[in-house]
Parts: sequence; structure tokens; C-alpha cells
Amino acid sequence: MTPPQFERLGGTFASRVTDLDITRPLDTGTIGALDAAMAEHAVLIFERTGLDEEGLHRFARSFGELDIGFKRVSRAPTRFKYDETLDMSNVGVDGAVVPPDHRKIVGNIANQLWHTDSSFQKPAAKYSFLLSEVTTSWGGETEFADMRAAHDRLSVRTRERLAGLIAEHDALHSRLSLGDTHYDEAQRQTFPPVDWPLVRHHPDTGAAYLYIGAHAHRIHGMTVPEARMLLMDLLEEATRAEYVYRHAWNVGDLIIWDNRTTLHRGRAFDLSERRELKRVSTLDEASAA
Ligand code: OGA
Ligand code: MN
Repeated sequence: MTPPQFERLGGTFASRVTDLDITRPLDTGTIGALDAAMAEHAVLIFERTGLDEEGLHRFARSFGELDIGFKRVSRAPTRFKYDETLDMSNVGVDGAVVPPDHRKIVGNIANQLWHTDSSFQKPAAKYSFLLSEVTTSWGGETEFADMRAAHDRLSVRTRERLAGLIAEHDALHSRLSLGDTHYDEAQRQTFPPVDWPLVRHHPDTGAAYLYIGAHAHRIHGMTVPEARMLLMDLLEEATRAEYVYRHAWNVGDLIIWDNRTTLHRGRAFDLSERRELKRVSTLDEASAA
């Protein structure tokens, strides 16, 4: 196989991959090259792939074990072949667009907060693979921000302040903050909060990155208001518009992002318009401890 080509779209990260047909089974050398590319680019964009659910699984599975994510709480019924296929659409099991007060829409809107997938569990998600199937006439883009670059822009004083700090991440925090409080005790117990250092390091490159986003809600040893303000300040600085890569979807586009080193969010769209994407994610088993 000819080696895939990478074309940088964002400032410090996010590249388009060309010269590679991911609908076919790939050899281990190619998977290894993409894995190495993820360590460098953190977000890879494959345009108009023609992938289906089967192909999406085969491709993602070559990078690791798959995550089930928030589905364990929502217990949402699926339209898909695999349990690990996460339905990021505004469409119900009957295939129709759901009304704005449907349970599912909370998830769509919570995804419009900057976040990293499954940081509320151990292991968290490593890579997410998001495949676009139906796009909207306006909005509905997905944005990404590089948390290595965000870390590197911090002042020495701020780095010193963050050293050794541990944040608590909670699955329901972003949803509760949107006024969605309809969770019973069993659902609340499904994901006990987990701790992650605010500053982590990529195991292969050693790069320092900020691990923040909508699931982080407390910092050990700090009052809640002080922690929330620090988290909000870090997030604001890390996601300044000039550092963000915004992707306007074509049908068939697939994006892989590294949930360790990037944050992402969906952008608003007209909820009455059909928007369909499927996601699968691998687990970050190396940092399960
Ligand atoms: C996701 C996600 C955002 C979007 O799939 O994990 O956050 O734009 N998606 O749908
Ligand atoms: Mn997400």
C-alpha cells in the first residue's frame, strides 16, 4: 500500500488524510502509521469515506477494545447492529426526527459543551471515530481544540498552580448543568466520579496536555467555586476561536480524535432538521489505573 498523506488543517493539529481507502481491511503497517499519526496530529479527517457500520467497526477495532460510554446510564434502545455503535443523531428508533423535549436531545445538546469522551469513567475513551451520514443545512459542525498546545501556552505561574492538581469528573455534571435532572438513583450510581490529573502526559510522545472539559466539576483540595472558576478559565483560554479547528461535515466524512489530547464539541443546529452521525470509541486501557 502507498503510505497515506497528511495535510494539516488546524494550526498545531488536525490533518486531512488522503490516499487511503479505509473501507478495505488495512494491514498492520498502515494501522501503525495512522496510530503514529494520531500521536502527532491528534485529529485525523477522512473525507467522503463511504464507510458503513460494519466498516466503521472493523476500522476502529484495529485500534483497540470498544467503549459503551454513557449508554450504560441512558439505556437508550438502539437502531444499530452493534451495542458499541453510539447514536449521535436526533433520530428515534423508528427512524423519525425526535421532538426537542425527547430524552435523546439532551445528549445532542450536552455534546455542544467542550468535552472529552467518557472522561467520567476508567478507562476513559482513547480514540473516537465519528462518521457523518446525514448533514444539516446550517450549523451542526464539530469543533476541536488541541490540549497540548493549550498546555504549552500556559504561563509558568499557571503551570506551577496546576502541578499535582487532581480533578474529579462526573458523568451527569454536564447534563445536570443543562437542567436535565431526570436520573434515578441507579442511573446516578452507574458512574461513580473518577479522578484525573489536570495535566497529563501522552504515553508515547511525553507531551503534556490539559485534561479538562464538561465532565470535570471539582478539584481536590479546592473549594467548589474556586475549582469551577479555574476550570472555566482554563477551558476558555484553551478553546479560543483562533486555536480551534471547525469541521463542516460532508456525508461520509469520518473523523478520529484523540480524547486524551483534544477537546471537542458539536455546534448548534436546527433540532427539527435531521442530523445523523454514528460513533465508536476505543478504550484508553493504558491509563485505566
Ligand atoms: C461525539 C460528539 C459532537 C457532534 O460524537 O462524541 O461529541 O458534533 N459529537 O455530534
Ligand atoms: Mn463527544
